Amino acid sequence: MIPSLLLLGLLGPVLPALAQSRTSEAQEAQISDPVQECTPYSYSPVAAAVASSAFPPIWTPVTALQPNDSAGKAKFASINSSIPNISPKGTMAGDFSNFTPTYPATDPDCWWTFHQCVDPKLSGLQPDIASVSEPKTLGYGFDDGPNCSHNAFYDYLTEQDQKATMFYIGSNVMDWPLEAQRAVSDGHQICVHTWSHRYMTSFSNEGAFGELWYTLQAIKLVTGLTPTCWRPPFGDVDDRIRYIASQLGLETILWKFDSNDWKVGTNNVTVADVQQDYQNLINNATSGAFDTVGAIILTHELNNFTMQTAVEMYPKLKAAFDHIVPIAVAQNITTPYVEKNVTFQTFSQYIANQSASPPNSSDGGSGGSSGSGGSSQSQGGSAAAGLRVPTTLALALGLAGFGMLAL
Ligand SMILES: *[C@@H]1O[C@H](CO)[C@@H](O)[C@H](O)[C@H]1NC(C)=O
Ligand SMILES: *[C@@H]1O[C@H](CO)[C@@H](O)[C@H](O)[C@H]1NC(C)=O
Ligand SMILES: *[C@@H]1O[C@H](CO)[C@@H](O)[C@H](O)[C@H]1NC(C)=O
Ligand SMILES: *[C@@H]1O[C@H](CO)[C@@H](O)[C@H](O)[C@H]1NC(C)=O
Ligand SMILES: *[C@@H]1O[C@H](CO)[C@@H](O)[C@H](O)[C@H]1NC(C)=O
Ligand SMILES: *[C@@H]1O[C@H](CO)[C@@H](O)[C@H](O)[C@H]1NC(C)=O
Ligand SMILES: *[C@@H]1O[C@H](CO)[C@@H](O)[C@H](O)[C@H]1NC(C)=O
Ligand SMILES: *[C@@H]1O[C@H](CO)[C@@H](O)[C@H](O)[C@H]1NC(C)=O
Ligand SMILES: *[C@@H]1O[C@H](CO)[C@@H](O)[C@H](O)[C@H]1NC(C)=O
Ligand SMILES: *[C@@H]1O[C@H](CO)[C@@H](O)[C@H](O)[C@H]1NC(C)=O
Ligand SMILES: [Zn+2]
Repeated sequence: MIPSLLLLGLLGPVLPALAQSRTSEAQEAQISDPVQECTPYSYSPVAAAVASSAFPPIWTPVTALQPNDSAGKAKFASINSSIPNISPKGTMAGDFSNFTPTYPATDPDCWWTFHQCVDPKLSGLQPDIASVSEPKTLGYGFDDGPNCSHNAFYDYLTEQDQKATMFYIGSNVMDWPLEAQRAVSDGHQICVHTWSHRYMTSFSNEGAFGELWYTLQAIKLVTGLTPTCWRPPFGDVDDRIRYIASQLGLETILWKFDSNDWKVGTNNVTVADVQQDYQNLINNATSGAFDTVGAIILTHELNNFTMQTAVEMYPKLKAAFDHIVPIAVAQNITTPYVEKNVTFQTFSQYIANQSASPPNSSDGGSGGSSGSGGSSQSQGGSAAAGLRVPTTLALALGLAGFGMLAL
């Protein structure tokens, strides 16, 4: 999987640096041409932080903390001796073939990749969040952003008055800081999805700490906010990694249903397979599978196909579930960041507000109901998005870009 991950990583830096004036989130969010959206720009807080060696190289797996990162070093030193004595596993690209033959069948490390363990064996760790307790409810989220060309997708979510949980990759946040700011403006929840998007159980203690730490620093730098949740790429987590995350105040969030959208174009996974996967979830929901405990869906902000499929499936999911909510809302977490100035609604407030303001009722008035973001900015507005593209055409266009892997 390394080559495809590198491909994902190289996209930003490799593009020619055309001067596209973009200095604010509001400006960035107005751009509708995906090529322009994905034209690199310089954002001075990021440029200054990079110049002062405050961050490791973008898209490079973290092996050690930056030499003059005294805050990171102090934090790591304070937890170092209590990190469970569990060895790193496999390779950063997820090759565990030399590891699994000797790993005990009892799964002593609660290693998700082995048998989807979500209840830590190590005492003191909280179980992972893999489903939501509210019945007939879908915990809604997207991995691997911020995608530079996400405006049409975020416009659609805003138009539907739908908030989601965005699992952001630190390197993408550094490349696309204004796009990350849009998530906050739109009232979405941001969680950490590591710095370089590799298999976390393969990292040393310091490397794993750094993958989370620098993503937290990147999100703080560009949004002013410090997330309290993370999702391991590929779900690859064990009790050692859970412990390190917990010491950084991060709750581990997995999923209950994998759309496999990220796999299209690889391993013979087709568009039809992904549509069938969504349909299976919808069938299960309508036949009562989530009548006592809700689900969490795994989908991606990775490319046009994954975002467009999310748009096309949204009305069907909406019909199949009673409620679609960000993870924090399903948990009644009203202050999802360390900073308390951004507040979210409780589950009951969120669903009351949603039913009080049906998405299509009156575009102009929808701003009044979007209280969850803490910020009153509601960029994108009314005329922005909608279902503009016939499915098959969009899929055909989108397919050209496949071949990259990410979960
Ligand atoms: C870190 O060290 C580099 C030189 O290696 C220096 O340019 C930079 O100012 C330092 N940054 C901080 C925050 O001390
Ligand atoms: C962390 O602890 C190990 C021993 O458990 C030690 O070898 C290492 O030097 C420590 N590292 C830091 C940064 O404190
Ligand atoms: C919240 O507070 C932080 C830290 O004081 C600040 O940087 C950030 O801009 C604030 N965000 C909002 C949406 O008010
Ligand atoms: C994809 O399908 C072809 C033809 O059925 C088969 O030869 C190949 O092994 C498959 N590849 C994978 C990765 O499953
Ligand atoms: C849907 O139900 C089928 C049959 O019970 C099951 O095999 C499958 O895992 C379920 N999928 C989801 C996403 O719940
Ligand atoms: C965002 O999506 C576009 C397709 O719309 C894709 O070409 C691009 O590589 C993605 N960029 C990032 C940073 O994920
Ligand atoms: C996908 O690409 C098509 C064609 O460029 C575009 O019209 C559509 O808005 C894109 N969808 C999303 C969700 O970005
Ligand atoms: C959220 O709050 C509602 C209303 O008080 C309650 O019924 C529900 O159990 C809470 N959910 C969680 C996960 O705490
Ligand atoms: C709608 O959201 C606001 C802001 O969180 C909240 O104060 C209000 O109670 C909600 N409305 C309803 C009907 O729950
Ligand atoms: C909202 O309006 C659009 C077009 O105006 C329509 O295609 C869509 O089905 C409507 N959605 C709902 C939930 O009514
Ligand atoms: Zn991912």
